[in-house]
Amino acid sequence: MKTILVTGTAGFIGFHLAKRLLNDGYRVVGVDSITDYYDIRMKIRRNKILLESQNYKFYKTNIADYKALDKIVKKEKPEVIIHLAAQAGVRYSLTNPWAYAEANYLGTMNIFETAKNNKIKRVLYASSSSVYGKNTISPFSEDHRVDQPISIYAASKRANELLAHSYHHLYGIETAGMRFFTVYGDYNRPDLALFKFTKSILLGKPIDVYNNGEMGRDFTYVSDIVDGIIAILNKKDLNYEIYNLGGDNPISLMNFIKLIETNLNKKAKLKMLPMQPGDVKENFADVTKARRELGFDPKIKIDKGVALYIDWFNKNKSWLLKLKEGKQ
Ligand SMILES: NC(=O)c1ccc[n+]([C@@H]2O[C@H](COP(=O)([O-])OP(=O)(O)OC[C@H]3O[C@@H](n4cnc5c(N)ncnc54)[C@H](O)[C@@H]3O)[C@@H](O)[C@H]2O)c1
Repeated sequence: MKTILVTGTAGFIGFHLAKRLLNDGYRVVGVDSITDYYDIRMKIRRNKILLESQNYKFYKTNIADYKALDKIVKKEKPEVIIHLAAQAGVRYSLTNPWAYAEANYLGTMNIFETAKNNKIKRVLYASSSSVYGKNTISPFSEDHRVDQPISIYAASKRANELLAHSYHHLYGIETAGMRFFTVYGDYNRPDLALFKFTKSILLGKPIDVYNNGEMGRDFTYVSDIVDGIIAILNKKDLNYEIYNLGGDNPISLMNFIKLIETNLNKKAKLKMLPMQPGDVKENFADVTKARRELGFDPKIKIDKGVALYIDWFNKNKSWLLKLKEGKQ
């Protein structure tokens, strides 16, 4: 049985990935420090589901603590590391950049360092569409420039890609940076728009609409992201790679809100606000490379994905409506 170490398993994407790996017959070692950036009750719930599997072993550990991380790797001997733990969120990176320094800079360096010291051949890690920053050529392609990040979060994710290059060059570690584009689905993060909008509409509260609604996002359903990660995991040859993993299905913010309204059968109260510093106006993905090299084929279109999400939310309303949304 192959052992995979996944960081961030109490998080949204890590949870879904670990669930799939366990279903597919892998042994999963999960590492997460369960930070309180958003309501930890969501993280504990996800982790509890994973702990139902005998093939899941969990360590509540901070990846910024090298000794603790290295000890786990030495004991569990994973063949591959899939590194998804991070301090996420664009806006919070402007108020608490130190959280990003700890988790994203130091934490990611520790991941590569332990991979090097324990001869782990392959490391997949989460990057982000936010690395495209000021790039205005749309859709975003892997060969576009990414040297103008506009948030501390984006800069930290780009730094991870550069670090991966050094570790690949120096020690031959196979690396793949995965630039995710606005991932959504059940158990998603309560600090993200879909959760916040759904909750506020149900409670009759106004929702914050930035840049007067003139924004666009390439929403990617989480099962499609997991398919992409598994395809990279199974890819025979890997050197230093970067892949856009997006839904190939862009939508404007106003149409996104309309879709939620339709599914909830309730109108939203809109609070129009200016653009937020650090935010990008549009993030549409060009997934040609992932299609060609991985057979990546995002299947869940936004109408179906939002319908699935609202259905799940309605069934879980009693606890979801109590969750705190996340630090700003
Ligand atoms: N969700 C998206 O739309 C999206 C888009 C682009 C990139 N990403 C990236 O994908 C990855 C997963 O995102 P997510 O949406 O699941 O976020 P998430 O916040 O739900 O999950 C990240 C997990 O990492 C853990 N963590 C944070 N700092 C840690 C540390 N120092 N040590 C150990 N664990 C720590 C957190 O407790 C959390 O459970 C992140 O790297 C994120 O930056 C996500």
